[in-house]
Amino acid sequence: MSSPILSTRNLTHVYSAGTPFEKMAIRDISLDFYPSEFVGLIGHTGSGKSTFVQHLNGLLKPTSGAVLFNGEALSSSKKVLRQSRFQVGLVFQYPEYQLFEETVFQDIAFGPKNMKLSGDEVAERVREAARFVGVPEEIFEKSPLELSGGQKRRVAIAGVIAMRPQVLALDEPTAGLDPEGRESILRNLLDYHDSTGAAVLLITHDMEEIARIASRLVVFREGEVAFDGAPKEVFRHGRELVDMGLELPGAAHIALRLRELGAALPEGIYTLEALADAICGVQGHSLGQREGALECGGTPPVSARTALPAPSEREPKWRGGCGSC
Ligand SMILES: Nc1ncnc2c1ncn2[C@@H]1O[C@H](COP(=O)(O)OP(=O)(O)OP(=O)(O)O)[C@@H](O)[C@H]1O
Ligand SMILES: [Mg+2]
Repeated sequence: MSSPILSTRNLTHVYSAGTPFEKMAIRDISLDFYPSEFVGLIGHTGSGKSTFVQHLNGLLKPTSGAVLFNGEALSSSKKVLRQSRFQVGLVFQYPEYQLFEETVFQDIAFGPKNMKLSGDEVAERVREAARFVGVPEEIFEKSPLELSGGQKRRVAIAGVIAMRPQVLALDEPTAGLDPEGRESILRNLLDYHDSTGAAVLLITHDMEEIARIASRLVVFREGEVAFDGAPKEVFRHGRELVDMGLELPGAAHIALRLRELGAALPEGIYTLEALADAICGVQGHSLGQREGALECGGTPPVSARTALPAPSEREPKWRGGCGSC
C-alpha cells in the first residue's frame, strides 16, 4: 500500500478547556488515510465527526496530538499548514452559507485565486469544477443568492473542488436535499473521486447511502474510533452499531434480526444481493431489479433451508414485531 496522504496521531480536542463548559470532543484518534480511498465517517450525533475533520486542514488546532499531511505535521511550518489548506478541501455542512461573492464564477474562483494561479488557470479550474458538480456555465454571472438550495450547494462544493485537493472532506454534503438532489450530488462526487484519484472522506448519517459507495467506514463513538474497516467488517458489529443509535442499512438490519432469531447467516451482510444469496444459499444469484421480490430460482439446497429457524420458532416473534425497528 502507498504512504498515507493524511494521518492523525493521538488527536485530541477539548473545547472550552478550563471552564465549566469543558468538553472533550475527540480523544486519542490515530488514523491514516490513503490516496484514492473513499471513506465514510459515521457516528451518532455529537460523536466528534465534525470536530475531527476540522483538524484535517488546520482549521481547528489539536489540544494534543498531531495531523500529518504527506508525513509532515501541519504544526511544523507555515508552509505545510498553507499546503494543507489547499490540498485538504473541507466542505462544511450547509456549505451554501459560505457563499459570499457577487457571482457564481467569483465564488468558485475564490480558492484558486488564493493559490495565486494565473487568470487563465483560475478560469479553467472554475469550468472544470463546475462541470464536476453540474453547475451550468449559463449561471456563472448570476448572484449565488438567486440560486436554488441545491444549486447553491453545488456551487459551494465546486469552490472547494476548484483547488483540486488531494483530499476532499465533506461534512454531510447532502443533508437537507431531496432524494434526487442527494443522488445527483453523490454521483458527482463519485465521478470526481474516480477521475482524480483524490481521497474522499464523507461524513453522513445515511448508512444505506454510505454502505453503497464507501470502501472503508470509520465509526465514531463518544469521541473515539469504535470501528474502522471495510463495510463488510464494520457491519459484523451490527448489534453494537444499533446500540450506538445508528440505523443500519435495510439488508444489514434484516440480516441482524434473522441472526438474532437463530438463522445461521454469515456476519457482515449489508447489501440486498448478499442477503438474498445468503438466504437462498445460491451463490451469484441476486435480487435483480424486481422491486424487492425475493426470488430464489428454485428450491434452496437443504443447507440453506436448515440455516433458517423452523416456522414455529419464527412466527410468533415476527408477529410481535422485531422490537427494535
Ligand atoms: N464549538 C464548540 N464548543 C463546545 N462544544 C462543542 C463545540 N462544537 C462541538 N462541541 C461538542 O463536541 C462534541 C462533538 O461535536 P461534533 O460537532 O464534533 O459532533 P458530530 O459527530 O459532528 O455531531 P453531528 O452528527 O450532530 O454533526 C459534542 O458534544 C458537541 O456538543
Ligand atoms: Mg457534525
